[in-house]
Amino acid sequence: MVTRLTLEGIEPATRFRADLRVPGDKSIAHRAVLLSAIADGESRIRGIPAGEDVSATIACVRRLGIGIEQNGNRLRVEGRPLSEWRSPEGPLDCRNSGTTMRLLSGLLAGSRCSATLVGDASLSGRPMDRVARPLHQMGAQVATVGGHAPLRVEGRPLRGIDYPVSPPSAQVKSAVLLAGLHAEGETTVREAVRTRDHTERLLSAMGAACRLVPDGVRLRPLDGRLRPIDLEIPGDISSAAFLLAAASLRPGFEVRVEAVGLNPTRTAFLDLLRDMGGQVSVQPAAAGGSEPVGTISVVGGPLHAIQVAPDRVAQAIDEIPILLVLATQATGTTLVEGIGELRLKESDRVLAMTRGLRAMGARLQATGDRIAVEGPASLHGAEVDTFQDHRIAMALAVAGLVATSPTQLRGADRVDVSYPGFFGVLREATGARP
Ligand code: S3P
Repeated sequence: MVTRLTLEGIEPATRFRADLRVPGDKSIAHRAVLLSAIADGESRIRGIPAGEDVSATIACVRRLGIGIEQNGNRLRVEGRPLSEWRSPEGPLDCRNSGTTMRLLSGLLAGSRCSATLVGDASLSGRPMDRVARPLHQMGAQVATVGGHAPLRVEGRPLRGIDYPVSPPSAQVKSAVLLAGLHAEGETTVREAVRTRDHTERLLSAMGAACRLVPDGVRLRPLDGRLRPIDLEIPGDISSAAFLLAAASLRPGFEVRVEAVGLNPTRTAFLDLLRDMGGQVSVQPAAAGGSEPVGTISVVGGPLHAIQVAPDRVAQAIDEIPILLVLATQATGTTLVEGIGELRLKESDRVLAMTRGLRAMGARLQATGDRIAVEGPASLHGAEVDTFQDHRIAMALAVAGLVATSPTQLRGADRVDVSYPGFFGVLREATGARP
């Protein structure tokens, strides 16, 4: 991977105060674009995040012949039957986005198109056999290169399956469900840990027969078309998590995030933060759309160490890097178990966080499938590498706020994947010079 040299300086913070909204939820946005693209008519989606990941999904879907008009964070999507999607000339570029590649391959598996899905260096190193395997069982023609992208999909008729997803993954679950929409017979996906259920919620809201079974979800193939949607995407709790964590770090720090998603399959981080002694309050807004929304407020105070079991890691998978930062400031040894999947994200997040935080003076030990963090540690500034990973960049930036000297982040521009403008938000919250 080529390491870019964009350096962002983070100054130690003496204050942190913010009252804001965060970009729209990335997971919901990908799904809303893909499902409205096969709906019967025009869908309207507001709150589309500006980050690169969702832009990659929009660009891929357009190349498959779907009309999408974008005006700021609003989209109008002209749905078309999947059978009328056209094969793109040249590869579909999913860039850094695993959700784009995995969900789109599920949808395309039952189409009449042929397409090659490619990604950047990070995505090309991530496992794709986990989606190819269940899709093959459904009769799909999906070829990987040794389990990795490029992924060649030749659409064909599919049959429903009953599939236990292991390790837990909402992307794999969703890829199978999207393929199941156009398969013959029912599709059941079973999961040992309940992962984010945005696909299921959106499918039900659009009229698909998708229902919970004791250990998973069952979908009947589409009988006709999905209904178009008019959707307001809530703020992304995974983006908010960095600010909630920042506010937790010192007495006197505070943050209030409005209109953020409160889907119970996404709020495990709030429970973990509370377990550490974090002062979190949640005000749900009146129920409206298919996803719960509300306001989260956090004020800073003392934190203590916790033990995090593997099922909770799976439910807070995107928030573990920032949880490790909190652990450096908590009293005692925090133990996080079942971290294997963290090594397969946009970077090896165990390695990236261990390197970065150690360079800043933290005491972390990663052994096998677990990581131990001894706190509280006095952090100092250092030049640290983001590993070209948006969540590592944001986590290390937050660590830099409580360091005793300035921190330099190498490859900081990667925050654009999910939270363009993140450093501006930090500067404003800390009163730092722009
Ligand atoms: C996502 C699921 C998770 C998560 C990713 C987004 C989704 O990945 O880490 O950022 O939108 O379904 P896995 O399904 O690989 O666990």
